Amino acid sequence: MAKVKMALIGCGGMGTRHLYGVRELVQSPFNNIELVALCDIRRENVELAATEVEELLGSKPATFTDVGAMAKAIPDLEMVDVVTDPSVHHTVVCQALDLGLHVLVEKPLAITVKACHLMMEAAKRNDRLLSVAENYRRDPSARLIRHLIDKGVIGTPYMGMLHSVRPGRDIFITPWRHLIDKGGPLIDMGVHFTDLIRYQLGDIKEVYGDARLIEPVRQKQESIGDHYTFYQQRHKAMDQEVPATAEDSSLAVFKMESGATVSWIVNIGGHGSAGAQLILGDKGCIEGWGNRGGSTQLKVAGQEDVQYEQLLAEYKDFSLEPLAEYFFPQRSSLGDKAVDWKIIALEQYELAEAILNGRQLEVDGAEGLKDVAAVYAICESARAGRTVTMAEVENAEVYDYQAQIDEALGIS
Ligand SMILES: NC(=O)c1ccc[n+]([C@@H]2O[C@H](COP(=O)([O-])OP(=O)(O)OC[C@H]3O[C@@H](n4cnc5c(N)ncnc54)[C@H](O)[C@@H]3O)[C@@H](O)[C@H]2O)c1
Repeated sequence: MAKVKMALIGCGGMGTRHLYGVRELVQSPFNNIELVALCDIRRENVELAATEVEELLGSKPATFTDVGAMAKAIPDLEMVDVVTDPSVHHTVVCQALDLGLHVLVEKPLAITVKACHLMMEAAKRNDRLLSVAENYRRDPSARLIRHLIDKGVIGTPYMGMLHSVRPGRDIFITPWRHLIDKGGPLIDMGVHFTDLIRYQLGDIKEVYGDARLIEPVRQKQESIGDHYTFYQQRHKAMDQEVPATAEDSSLAVFKMESGATVSWIVNIGGHGSAGAQLILGDKGCIEGWGNRGGSTQLKVAGQEDVQYEQLLAEYKDFSLEPLAEYFFPQRSSLGDKAVDWKIIALEQYELAEAILNGRQLEVDGAEGLKDVAAVYAICESARAGRTVTMAEVENAEVYDYQAQIDEALGIS
């Protein structure tokens, strides 16, 4: 099978996990990529990743600290997987596209809506593919929920609830996740959720929102669960306290193009905890929007809840794409410790298939932009003190909140 030569750019926490994704794909009968190089501006990060690749795949790829030098040294490089922090997605991705490379970029597509537009323009002018790694929707649970909605199992969806309230003042994974011009916690977690809402219920029309910063100082956790060497080393080196400048708490009402409404509360900080995820239809209700390693159940008033396995047994026409069937033969990822890596492999595989065989991208630049814009619509609405339309946020006509980020990063 033909293989696309690929390089990873950004060898931090998620970059390391993308290397495990490569291993899942390479070891499958569907493999269509060859990892030829790694790149990170920090020499120690790229070297640690190279050691990781040697353990995972048996040999070390070439290492670089500069994207241009990498492209020059490997003229038949076709695709890059960009996993840098979001504040530089637009610079790295535009450079890669201008070098003639196809790009898979981690979510969020970019740090602001204007930065998203820069990347889409670069993809267009170079006639290259731009794909966004929005992983939650690729989990079998998200696919099953979408299948049930499409079949009309819950009738017409009229309301939804996505409440994820997580208390505390711990540093949320990395210090940069608390800085407004690096990509705060709301954009970091929020795009997962806006992508799921749009995947299940279609596009958003209008947003009314409130966003606040409740924890201005974040503290290092005593220990972290992640076993990856990179995460452990970084945790050791982390400052005890970091200042937070990005909002950590948000409430919104989304009015969907379909007429349905969705209630949103996403807090990563503060006090109290809650989690509620429901999609309400006039014939039934689905619990959950889909999640990595997730589940779902169907609720109909007056009847026993229908659990995941029963849903699979009842809706036998539900299936996954061939590589996902290979990864998740039970059509479920519940309890699968490799689910994170397998979904990343699906993302890498899809772009390589698009390059080799013209496969359609599921989350391209236009889709990724909508996910970013929907989160910023909450902040823009809070700033403007009124409901905002997605059209005015996507076209950067309502932009007061993001203007400060663009100014800090020199985006115009
Ligand atoms: N889909 C998910 O579930 C998920 C989970 C975690 C992170 N992410 C996303 O992955 C991305 C990276 O997050 P992370 O937690 O790995 O961050 P990180 O800080 O751990 O790693 C970022 C890496 O990028 C490198 N880098 C920065 N600028 C660079 C440049 N110009 N060129 C090359 N390398 C550069 C840094 O040195 C670092 O090694 C973010 O977009 C984040 O939102 C997604």
